[in-house]
Parts: sequence; structure tokens; C-alpha cells
Amino acid sequence: MSDRPTAIVEHPGYTIVENASLLGRNTLQVAARAELLIDVRKPEALTELFALPALGRLPLLVLGAGSNILFAGDWPGIVLSMATRGIAILEDRGDGALVRAEAGEAWNDVVSWSLARGLAGLENLVLIPGLAGASPIQNIGAYGTEIGEFIETVEAYDRHAGRIVRLDRAQCAFGYRDSAFKRAPDRYVISAIELALPRERPLRTGYAGIAEELAALGVDTPTPAHLAEAIARIRTRKLPNPALVGNAGSFFKNPVVTTAVAEALRREHPDLPAWPAGEDTMKLAAAWLIERCGFKGLREGDAGVSAEHALVLVNHGRASGAELLALARRIVEGVAQRFGVVLEPEPRIVGAS
Ligand code: FAD
Ligand code: EPU
Repeated sequence: MSDRPTAIVEHPGYTIVENASLLGRNTLQVAARAELLIDVRKPEALTELFALPALGRLPLLVLGAGSNILFAGDWPGIVLSMATRGIAILEDRGDGALVRAEAGEAWNDVVSWSLARGLAGLENLVLIPGLAGASPIQNIGAYGTEIGEFIETVEAYDRHAGRIVRLDRAQCAFGYRDSAFKRAPDRYVISAIELALPRERPLRTGYAGIAEELAALGVDTPTPAHLAEAIARIRTRKLPNPALVGNAGSFFKNPVVTTAVAEALRREHPDLPAWPAGEDTMKLAAAWLIERCGFKGLREGDAGVSAEHALVLVNHGRASGAELLALARRIVEGVAQRFGVVLEPEPRIVGAS
């Protein structure tokens, strides 16, 4: 493909560009191109768009802010991005409220917006990059909270049904970094999320480091806003900033293994962090496994493992998606050989054979 993008359709509800660069649209800062890139500004345009023959013919990838995706190559089809905006209270329920966010809102703006209106719940999810519309895909989670707890409804264009549908929390089938949407990646285009947020709830300050951070802030009776500030500080210290060095946050999920496997590993490695993860299973710290294999801070060309956090792959400059994927594969092999645990990538990997 040549390097020149061409706008082929300017519609009040969307723009279609041919041969578009995705370099500025993924936080790993990998060079990749799409045959067609569609930015949707009005949700009602979705139904009209899906009536176009090209949308039935070409492979479709829905892209948010690109903070959880690795382009291992170009996308041989359509990339569709929801740029719809708006956050509103749909219903005041006294002790809480139903908040709707359109898919194109930045997730962290939803967090700040709700906290500023005296609504709690999202404080632990502060500073997670990405768009509101992507938040249900892997059921974003951090510091002891997952978005699935608050989702009342996800509104989406269902490509199987050919119309906008509304899914309740049970239909979303949320799990650890998992949902019904993640398991059917070609089916839904999420157009909005609706969150039931309480005015008050017991704050979740149990995650390692939070109490110390609140103390350092001089706060002894924290509000949700204090907790958000403490977590924002921890995150800023722990994770590389994608604006400075390309990354997609945790590149691997923390592996969930049977309690027997976890106990056997911990007999040999008593300092391996592990947490109960439901019936007879435990979650292991992937970062620890990777660090123990000697990968932390490793660099191969411009592809590397962060020296700040072993779970984060980084692009020091011009690493290609294929180079990052090759490094990820090396890590998976190394950890499997040493510990017998198979790591699974967290970001969606596209364009790889
Ligand atoms: P993208 O990366 O663009 O897309 C991710 C997936 O969602 C793709 O499969 C895509 O097809 C799909 N998708 C996106 N939008 C839609 C839509 N509207 N409809 C249907 N499918 C869609 N994640 C956590 O859970 N917890 C964290 O603490 C966390 N920390 C991070 C820290 C850093 C520094 C970075 C870079 C990432 C972090 N992440 C974290 C991962 C990432 O921020 C989240 O997964 C986020 O929800 C991705 O949003 P996005 O808009 O960038 O989605
Ligand atoms: N650790 C190491 N080496 C490191 C970094 C961490 O051994 O280089 C150990 C720590 O000592 C700690 C354990 O690993 O005992 C866990 O580390 P941390 O608290 O940083 O959390 P994590 O398990 O690595 C997960 C999520 C993050 C989320 C944080 C906070 C996954 C895959 N990642 O990271 O989410 O922000 O917890 O809740 O579940 C993301 O999904 O992109 C992401 C950043």
C-alpha cells in the first residue's frame, strides 16, 4: 500500500478514509495500515453503515484508543472506530444513579465525571487508558474492582441480528479479563454503556500499597476521590506512560491454575505471589514469573520488557508488531519451560499468521 490516505466519504455521521495509518491509533506505537478506516460520530449512523456492501465483504475490526491491541501486521479490511461522545445521568435513584456514557468517551473522563457528581464505584479504575466502549470487552479491572460490577446495560450493534441490542450484566458474562464480547470479537460494536453507580459504598483499600499511599497523602478518612488520587499515584509510578514509551499495559494475563499446581510451585518458590481465584483455583503473578526468567528490562532492538514492570512489553522506538510478538513468544516459552505455566496474552493480537 502507498503511504497516502484518501478521504473517500464525508458524511455527517461518519468519515471513511482509504489506506489509513494506524500508527497514532495504538499505544504500542506500532506502524500498521488499514484498507478502510471509519470514524463514527453519530450512533444512528451504524445501521446505515452496516447496510453498505463493503461492510459485509471485508473483515471488520472495531478499534477504540488502541491501548489493548497489537498490530502484528496491517489490517486487511475495515477498521471502525466509535467517536461518539456524551455522558449523562439517565435516572437518579436516590442512593445512586444510572449513568450512560457513549462509546467514544475516554474511560478516565467517565471516572472523573462520576466522581465529580458524588457517585462512587469507579475510583479504583482511575487512569485506565482507552474508551468507554471498550471497557466491557475485557471487563477492565484494577485494584480490586472490575467494571462488570457496575454495568447495568451494554448497548451494541449486533452484526448477527443486524440491529442495535441491549445486553444486561448477565448476558455480558463477565470474567477476569473476559466477557461475551471478547469471545465473539466479530459480532458486536458497542455504542454505549450504562452504569449503576452508588453514592456511597465501602471503599476498597485492600490492594497492596493503597493504605501506604493514602497515609503519604495525609488522608485518614478517605473519600472516593482521595482513593482515586492514591491509585493514580501508584499507577503513575508503576507503569510506563504510553505517551513516552509505547506499551499496552499488562501484556499477559495473570495465569489462573489449580490450587494443587499453585501449591506445588509455592513449595519450590515460597515468594511467588498467588491469590485465591474462585473454586479450587489460584491466580499467579505473571510479572514475577517473567522477572524470575530474567526477562525484565530485556531489549531486542526496539522491542523490550519494561524495566519498571515485567508484565509490560515496550516499544523503545520503531519496533514492529512482528518483533514485539516474537519477544512475547520467547517469554511464553521461557516461562513455560521454567515453571510449566503457559501465559496468555491480554491484548488482542491482529495481523499475525
Ligand atoms: P482497544 O485497544 O482499541 O481495543 C481493545 C479490544 O476491544 C479490541 O478487541 C477491540 O476490537 C475491542 N473494542 C474496542 N472498542 C470496541 C467497541 N466500541 N465495540 C466492540 N469492540 C470494541 N486494562 C485493565 O483492565 N486494567 C488496567 O489496569 C489497565 N491498565 C493499563 C495501563 C496502560 C498503561 C495501558 C496502555 C493499558 C492498560 N489496560 C488496562 C488495557 C486497556 O487500557 C484496556 O483494555 C482498555 O479497555 C482498552 O480500551 P481501548 O479503547 O484502547 O480499546
Ligand atoms: N511483580 C514482580 N515484578 C514486576 C512487577 C510486579 O514480581 O516487575 C509482582 C509484584 O511484586 C506483585 C505482583 O507481581 O506481587 C503483582 O503486581 P502488580 O500489583 O503490579 O499487579 P499485576 O498483577 O502485575 C494487575 C493487572 C493490572 C492492574 C493491576 C492492579 C493483569 C494482567 N494486570 O497487574 O492491569 O492495573 O493488577 O490491579 O491482571 C492491564 O490489564 O493492562 C493492567 C495494567
